[in-house]
Amino acid sequence: MASPPASRAVVETDAAVSPVVVVGGATKVFRGTHALDGVSCTILPGQFVAIVGKSGAGKTTLLRCLACAITLTGGSIRFGEQDVGALRGRALRRHRARVGMIYQQFNLVKRLRVIDNVLVGRLAHLGRRGRWLALARHFDPREQAVALRCLDHVGLLDRVWQRTDTLSGGEQQRVAIAKILAQQPEVILADEPIASLDISNGTLVLDTLRRTASRAGLTVIATLHHIDVARRYADRIIGLRDGRVVFDGTPAQMNETAMLDIFGELPADYLTASVGRRAAS
Ligand SMILES: Nc1ncnc2c1ncn2[C@@H]1O[C@H](COP(=O)(O)OP(=O)(O)OP(=O)(O)O)[C@@H](O)[C@H]1O
Ligand SMILES: [Mg+2]
Repeated sequence: MASPPASRAVVETDAAVSPVVVVGGATKVFRGTHALDGVSCTILPGQFVAIVGKSGAGKTTLLRCLACAITLTGGSIRFGEQDVGALRGRALRRHRARVGMIYQQFNLVKRLRVIDNVLVGRLAHLGRRGRWLALARHFDPREQAVALRCLDHVGLLDRVWQRTDTLSGGEQQRVAIAKILAQQPEVILADEPIASLDISNGTLVLDTLRRTASRAGLTVIATLHHIDVARRYADRIIGLRDGRVVFDGTPAQMNETAMLDIFGELPADYLTASVGRRAAS
């Protein structure tokens, strides 16, 4: 039987499971540029969702809107029952703590020790006194135990006391994952988390992210540049083109028609991997 057209490939959603995020007709206009143009999607808890698309398709803008770093021009974003567009002040800060962000450039304080960077992830959980003490780099032993556990999960227990900028890029990104785990968010947003890494470090980082998020029951929404990587790691792929969703389906549904819909051509990494697959068979 022929594959369905890419734009109609839709992930089966389980009606019994409440979505963690619902994006409804989200629009973001920057000085006449429609970065998002009516994006709608429903994301279930525990899913690993890859957002793919050409440069300028709106991937980062969607993540920034989900993180409430910027506001929508139109439409809505709900986390559980909460419409996050309506949040202000303390409620907005509380929401931001529910979302952990991983960046291409790690966003760690390079001169701090590894454990101090992970402890930063605990700040949202501390009271006023705890935050004051944290300024003097004094953390309760219980907080330190949480940070050590998170570093253990990402396989960096032997680097705890090392200055962060002495670690490799891949190790720094795993510290960033440990910091997000320490924050205990509901959703992890990752913007090109492996774009600064070579293939083996990138693979290790995505393996770590997938394994630790799955163990903690966290939802991950990650923008990824390589379609083959997205197909390997994601439970679900959302393809954006010019700010619109042109594909929403499983890796198995991501066929060449879908790739053409998203990228306008077959991506180079897909073609290279296809040659490798043919040679191996
Ligand atoms: N702060 C801004 N001011 C003006 N235009 C912006 C701003 N942020 C994004 N845009 C525009 O919105 C569109 C989408 O940008 P976005 O960064 O979301 O793309 P992207 O898919 O993440 O691309 P890339 O793969 O290159 O990271 C682009 O045309 C971009 O120039
Ligand atoms: Mg981007």
